[in-house]
Amino acid sequence: MARAAGTEGLRKLLARLATELEVNGNDLVIEREKAELLMEEIKPKPSPLQLFYEQIKDCRKCPLAETRTNFVFGTGNENADIMFIGEAPGADEDRLGEPFVGRAGQLLNRMLNEVGLQREEVYIANVLKCRPPGNRDPRPEEVAQCLPYLLKQIELIKPKVLVCLGRIAAQTLLKTLSPLSRLRGQIHQFRGIPMVVTYHPAALLRNMGNYERSISDLRFALRVYHEAVSAESDENDSAQTDG
Ligand code: URA
Repeated sequence: MARAAGTEGLRKLLARLATELEVNGNDLVIEREKAELLMEEIKPKPSPLQLFYEQIKDCRKCPLAETRTNFVFGTGNENADIMFIGEAPGADEDRLGEPFVGRAGQLLNRMLNEVGLQREEVYIANVLKCRPPGNRDPRPEEVAQCLPYLLKQIELIKPKVLVCLGRIAAQTLLKTLSPLSRLRGQIHQFRGIPMVVTYHPAALLRNMGNYERSISDLRFALRVYHEAVSAESDENDSAQTDG
C-alpha cells in the first residue's frame, strides 16, 4: 500500500546505453567523462521529505531541544498511503531516533501485522518530535511550535488515510477536546484526508482488554482506505469518459 517510487533515472540510463550500443555495436565503450555524467544523472536525489528533515533536524524552537537526545522525525515509506500519528517520542525513541521502537512500538508492529500491514509500507510520525521529560503530556506551546512539522510531513507524503494513535494526536489534529471514546468509530476529515482514531498502543499495554477493539479500528481504517482508492479510480474513469 504504497505508491511506486520513480524510475526516471534508470529509464534515462537505459536509453543512453541503448544509444551507445547502436553507435558502437557490441563493442560498447563509454568514455570516463560520459560515464561520470551518467552516474551523476542517475544518482538518487534527496526527496522533498529528506530535504525537509535536513531543514528542521536541529530545531531549537522549544525547551525540549535542551533535554532530547535525538530529534525523532518519522519513519517508513515516503509514498505511504496510510500514515500513523502518535503523540511524542518516549525514552527508547529518544535514544534511537525513531518513532515507536519501544514496547508500544512492538505492540504497534504486532497490530499492523495482524491486519496485513508491514511497518515499512506505512509512515509513522508523532505530533512532537522531541521527548517530553518523564513522558509527560505535550504542552500547548510545544505543540504550537512542532505541529507545523507534522503538517508539512502530511502534505509531502499525501497519505490516503490518516490513523491517529491515541487521544492527544486526534485532539490536536481535529482541534477538539472530545474524548477518545467519541472520536473512535467515525471517519473524520483532516484537510481533505479521511482520518480514523484508535487507542494509543501504550494505553493498550496498560489495558489489553481494548486490543481487539483497536484491531477493529485498523480494519475500519483499511476499509476507508479501499473506499478512498476506489472513489479516486471512479473519478479518473469518469474524467476520461468526459474528456
Ligand atoms: N509513543 C508515541 O506516541 N510515540 C512514540 O514514538 C513512542 C511512544
